[in-house]
Amino acid sequence: MGRFVNIAIDGPAGAGKSTVAKLLAEKLGYIYVDTGAMYRAVTLQALMDKIDMGDEKNLTRIAESVDLAFKVDETGNTRIFLNGFDVSQQIRTPEVSRNVSLVSRVPGVRRKMTRLQRELGAAGGVVMEGRDIGTQVLPEAEMKFFLTASVEERARRRHAELIQRGFAVSYAEVLEDIARRDEIDSHRALAPLKPASDAEIIDCTGMTAQQVVDTIAARVSGRIN
Ligand code: DC
Repeated sequence: MGRFVNIAIDGPAGAGKSTVAKLLAEKLGYIYVDTGAMYRAVTLQALMDKIDMGDEKNLTRIAESVDLAFKVDETGNTRIFLNGFDVSQQIRTPEVSRNVSLVSRVPGVRRKMTRLQRELGAAGGVVMEGRDIGTQVLPEAEMKFFLTASVEERARRRHAELIQRGFAVSYAEVLEDIARRDEIDSHRALAPLKPASDAEIIDCTGMTAQQVVDTIAARVSGRIN
C-alpha cells in the first residue's frame, strides 16, 4: 500500500462528519472533499434557475453543465466555486437544505457527481466525506468510517450551527428537516445512505469532534506509517 491512502467518512446529516473530516485532513496533510457541498451547489443552481425539484431531466442537465471547483483560501478553509463564483455561504441556507435530498436522489445527478468525486480521489491522499463514499464513490478506499449519533443530538448540533450563522430557525424545524432527510437519503433507490460492509461504525453521541478525530487518527496511523 502506498503512503497516501483514501479515507471515506460517511454518515447522516449532523453526525459531525464535516468537522471531523476537516480536522483529520489537516492533521494528515490530506485534501478534504465535502461531497455534500457538491450536491448543494447543484441544488443552488436549480433553485436559481427555478427548476421544479421533480424535473429529473433538467436537474440532470444542470448537474452535467455546472462547473464545480474546490479551492483552499489563505486561512486554510476549503471554498466551493459554482461556475466561478464562491457559493460556500449560499449552499448552507435552509432553502438549499430543504431541497438537496430531492436533487441528490436523481440518478443523472449522482452519476455526474460520482464521476467528479472519483477524479478528486484518483491520486489518493483524500479525506472524502458524504453518504456513499465507502459504498459507491471510492469502494476501494483503504479506510472507511461511518459516523452516527442520535437524531436529537444531530439536530441540536445543526441548530446551534445555523443559529451561529444567523439563521432564525427553531430546534423543532431542524429536527424535522434532519429526520426527513434521513428518511429520503436512506430509502432512495440509488446509493442509499448505509455503512459499507468494511466500514468501522463510530457512534459519536456524547463524543467531542476531537475525540472522534483522535479515534480515527489512531486507526489511520497504523496504516500509513
Ligand atoms: O452533508 P450534507 O448535509 O451537506 O449533504 C447534503 C445532502 O446531499 C444530503 O441530504 C444528501 C446528499 N448527499 C448525497 O446524497 N451523497 C453524498 N455523497 C453527499 C451528500
